[in-house]
Amino acid sequence: MRTKIVAGNWKMNKTFEEADDLINNIIDLLKSENLSDKAVIICPPAVFLELATDQSFDSEIYVGAQNVSRFESGAYTGEISASMLSSMGVDFCIIGHSERRKYFLETHEELAGKVDQVLKQNISPVFCCGETLPERESGKHFEIVRKQIEDSLFHLKEGDFEHVIIAYEPVWAIGTGVNATSQQAQEMHHYIRSLVREKYGDQMAENISILYGGSCNSKNAHELFANPDVDGGLIGGASLDAEEFIRIVQSF
Ligand code: PGA
Repeated sequence: MRTKIVAGNWKMNKTFEEADDLINNIIDLLKSENLSDKAVIICPPAVFLELATDQSFDSEIYVGAQNVSRFESGAYTGEISASMLSSMGVDFCIIGHSERRKYFLETHEELAGKVDQVLKQNISPVFCCGETLPERESGKHFEIVRKQIEDSLFHLKEGDFEHVIIAYEPVWAIGTGVNATSQQAQEMHHYIRSLVREKYGDQMAENISILYGGSCNSKNAHELFANPDVDGGLIGGASLDAEEFIRIVQSF
């Protein structure tokens, strides 16, 4: 059975004290939850990763980064390498978020390099894909998502691909308060799983976790997660409040 995952993408939010409180509150609230078939991941800004891995050491949560360098090491001022993340106990890394594609012009090729870097360090990529509103309106959404996945993930060998998590995040749903309908999410997740099946076979397609992201909150999570191909969520705004985030975890 595939793992159900709720991952919180904090983006560029919180000060040190606020991050400290949020991590502690999440850990405290999760103590009374049965997480046997679920994984809860928090992805704070890079400067708080050490705080997060320290505090989560004996807890039920995993820690993920929001970005990583596509280079291994050396003269790349301001970059953070996959080996640095791994040495701090980071287990997951968001790659290819639409905000990184849009504001930092990350290309499919660059994202493929980032995927390779984290996998070399035993970090699982949470690879984001999704179409913009004009792309959906012109009926190109399947083609766009296929290209994003093919170009940045399908060079991987099976042994590496089995560590990948995919997050479908329609760009028009991110931070807008307009989530994809349950039917739109299921349709795209089913399609993504069929791409994985074609390339890597039935077993891989059955095992891969495909998360939905984009204005997912405690009010719509239950309906979205009830779909057979939706294995959890990548949560932005609603992950910044511990109680709201836990309600989403409880939505399975
Ligand atoms: P949102 O963001 O939940 O605030 O829409 C999701 C994401 O960007 O990962």
